[in-house]
Amino acid sequence: MKKLLLIVLTVNLCLMCVSCYYDEAIEVEIPEIPPDEEISFSEDIQPIFVQDGKNCTTCHNGTVANPDLRVGNAYNAIVPDLVVPGNAEASVFYQRLPGNNHPVEAGFLLNTNEIALIKAWIDRGAENN
Ligand code: HEC
Repeated sequence: MKKLLLIVLTVNLCLMCVSCYYDEAIEVEIPEIPPDEEISFSEDIQPIFVQDGKNCTTCHNGTVANPDLRVGNAYNAIVPDLVVPGNAEASVFYQRLPGNNHPVEAGFLLNTNEIALIKAWIDRGAENN
């Protein structure tokens, strides 16, 4: 009887570990941006921050939250403080996007294409182009 209890407990413990493991292992699948697709900060990245219904600058406006993501301010607010040019994974900006561990409830999430564009822009050097 004791043995049975021990087996049940062990199995339970294993299941708990496995479920925790899978919780942490779930990651968003970020699509690759084809290398020949040009990415421009002003035309492709900045517009992501000021979309209707997904407007970062309702908070990130120099008053409520940092960084200031308004047009004209965003680049200097994130590079180089929150962006490591050439390395999105090491960039706080990339690590904290809505849809990728944003520290507070933003009210919306970026989709994987938007996250992929930001990632590729940083990985390719985070130019102000
Ligand atoms: C509802 C308000 C709100 C919205 C909308 C919002 N954020 Fe935030 N965000 C915050 C707050 C608050 C913080 C905490 C940072 C602070 O203390 O200023 C934060 C933090 C961050 C950080 C981490 C900054 C750091 O220094 O660690 C990033 C990156 C970020 N937001 C990006 C975005 C982007 C990109 C968007 C739009 C796609 C967005 N946020 C939309 C409120 C918001």
